[in-house]
Amino acid sequence: MDTKQKAGFRAAEFIEDGMRVGLGTGTTAYWLVERLGERVREGLRVRCVPTSRRTEEQARGLGIPLVTLGEAGGLDLAVDGADEIGPGLVLVKGGGGALLREKLVASAARRFVVIADKSKCVEVLGRFPLPVEVVPFGWELTARRVADAARVEPVRRLDAGGEPFVTDNGNYIVDCHCGAIEDPARLERELKSLTGVVESGLFVGIAHLAVVAADDKDVEIIEP
Ligand code: A5P
Repeated sequence: MDTKQKAGFRAAEFIEDGMRVGLGTGTTAYWLVERLGERVREGLRVRCVPTSRRTEEQARGLGIPLVTLGEAGGLDLAVDGADEIGPGLVLVKGGGGALLREKLVASAARRFVVIADKSKCVEVLGRFPLPVEVVPFGWELTARRVADAARVEPVRRLDAGGEPFVTDNGNYIVDCHCGAIEDPARLERELKSLTGVVESGLFVGIAHLAVVAADDKDVEIIEP
């Protein structure tokens, strides 16, 4: 079994009957949703909130009951992938562009479980470019502010056709090639204070548990 599949399937075991569950986005979360679809067919009752249109389509296709975050009114559990997992389970997310909904869902959950293959675990965050979601209006000026805060030149993300990537919320993403983020909490605060920034891909103090899979081993459960 593929490592991402191993992590996704293991995390699906945390889902109990009657739970309201946040469903993440990406190639690891894909497996969580697939396994949850099987469990729903077997009779598990859940109400789920997807973090992207992509996940929504997948879940709908599998017959998983969906509600909005407002209708759910809070979540018992959320499960999602990550681009980097640092010490204390501080994360970089948003490689797939779904960071805003992912953070809204993760922070609404009593328990947020991150799933990943071992390659995502790092000593220092920042090798993966940090995604920052910005409003399109005046985005160039916002990008300058982001550059000052992150001390790097952000790059506006493009889609596969070379057009500006637009998030499910109609915003742009600028990616910051930070190299090493020595103080993620401070950078997160600074970015969030900038007018024009909608959200940053830094998830500080949100994850409760990580399910990490490696090829040759059973999954590892990591707590902050
Ligand atoms: C989506 O916006 C991201 O935050 C994903 O959760 C993250 O990129 C992990 O994706 P993979 O599981 O595909 O590596």
